[in-house]
Amino acid sequence: MAGRTRSSYDSVAGMYHALWADWYLPAALPALDRLLFAKLPTGSRVLDLCCGSGHVTKELVARGYCVTGVDNSAELIALARRELPKVDFRIQDVTELCLESRYDAVLSTFDSLNHILSLDALRKAFACVHRVIERGGRFVFDMNLEEAYSMDLREWAVDVQERSVGMVRGKYDAASKRALTELIWFVKPGADNLWQQHRSVVEQRCYPLEDILIALNEAGFREIEAIAARDAGIKSDLGFGRMFFVARLQE
Ligand SMILES: C[S@@+](CC[C@H](N)C(=O)[O-])C[C@H]1O[C@@H](n2cnc3c(N)ncnc32)[C@H](O)[C@@H]1O
Repeated sequence: MAGRTRSSYDSVAGMYHALWADWYLPAALPALDRLLFAKLPTGSRVLDLCCGSGHVTKELVARGYCVTGVDNSAELIALARRELPKVDFRIQDVTELCLESRYDAVLSTFDSLNHILSLDALRKAFACVHRVIERGGRFVFDMNLEEAYSMDLREWAVDVQERSVGMVRGKYDAASKRALTELIWFVKPGADNLWQQHRSVVEQRCYPLEDILIALNEAGFREIEAIAARDAGIKSDLGFGRMFFVARLQE
């Protein structure tokens, strides 16, 4: 669509798809099982919010849910559509959702909502979710809290494969609560063996737990629970500083 702002994920969509997304799902499954799948009958309508290239979407489809995926990265959505051609994927911003359906559950995984860079925008996103969720519906998401950003990630982490080299490093500024992740991907996509380089900087914001809970309440959610990832069953490093939220819309 003309005039769409490019997402910082667009230029590194292939790298995200190949290197990162597969890491999240197996580690997060115990928490997703407990907080969502166990409560949601097969056939329920689920919105995968900030679905990326569709790794979690695929799991939702495999569990028999009727899924819509939304993300503002056109390149990630293109990969998701290639992987899951029957799923309804939309390129939309979470702060301006425009969906005609209502959902029994909305799921947003892998600290996607930390990519929303102001509290006002986060409030807008919650209000959008509130509009598309059915009465009795369940909104489940995870976000990084400050502890997660306190990890020192300034050294490059490097992943070397036969046809690609991925490099990632990050930094966090506690004063502005902004985190930057720099990604560089060298890849040989074609038979000509020529290397291409892709680079991006992805920005996140850290919100105090209290601000998230108040924003959910202001958006109209009640019965809000915040469950530390470790308590939700995540044992690996993924659980460090991560909080799961379950917010319900009353019947
Ligand atoms: C860390 S990825 C997680 C992707 C996916 N949920 C997963 O678990 O693999 C964060 C995702 O949030 C998306 N995103 C960031 N800001 C967004 C926004 N304002 N509206 C919609 N999607 C957004 C990015 O494009 C990216 O796909």
